[in-house]
Amino acid sequence: MSILVAYASKHGATEGIAERIGERLRAAGLEVEVRPARAVRDLAAYDAFVVGSAVYMFHWMKEAARFLRRNQAVLAEQPVWLFSSGPLGTEAEDPQGHDLLAVSAPKEIAELEEAVIARGHRVFFGAFHRGKPSGFGERMVAIMPAARATFPEGDFRDWDDIGNWAESIAHELSED
Ligand SMILES: Cc1cc2nc3c(=O)[nH]c(=O)nc-3n(C[C@H](O)[C@H](O)[C@H](O)COP(=O)(O)O)c2cc1C
Repeated sequence: MSILVAYASKHGATEGIAERIGERLRAAGLEVEVRPARAVRDLAAYDAFVVGSAVYMFHWMKEAARFLRRNQAVLAEQPVWLFSSGPLGTEAEDPQGHDLLAVSAPKEIAELEEAVIARGHRVFFGAFHRGKPSGFGERMVAIMPAARATFPEGDFRDWDDIGNWAESIAHELSED
């Protein structure tokens, strides 16, 4: 069984999550390719898909959303799982007491899940390192104290959580 892990990543955190998912699926005996979503042309070689994106300003990156919409017909016929890499920090809840992973799901996720008949969607903590700001959002984060608090710098990726999720996918595929 051959699996594609496709991702959209601006600064590399989501790419790292995709690579880790790929490693765990390989360790479970599956054949895996990990590719940027924008570089994938032909889906015919794959039997299952894991597709993920960084979340910016409450949305998936365009290239990942486009990948799902463009390939909707093929993907809906195959097992598909989605993941988002988003919230920063170590708190499980936002200041209002909402589950931070749940509220960080991108706005279009329900539509995308439905389009490809996804078997699941997970939000993982992400990573952010202040470099030279790129784009409006990052310039705002760089200068506004409130935004700096919402987007603390650091690597908050939970490798155990990510690995366990990948293993649950391998397990589900083995039972199909
Ligand atoms: C300007 C900016 C906006 C962001 N917006 C969101 C958001 O709306 N929701 C969220 O969960 N994370 C948000 N994040 C956090 C990123 O999604 C997180 O850093 C992610 O892991 C980055 O992935 P990448 O390195 O693959 O681009 C934002 C980060 C920045 C810098």
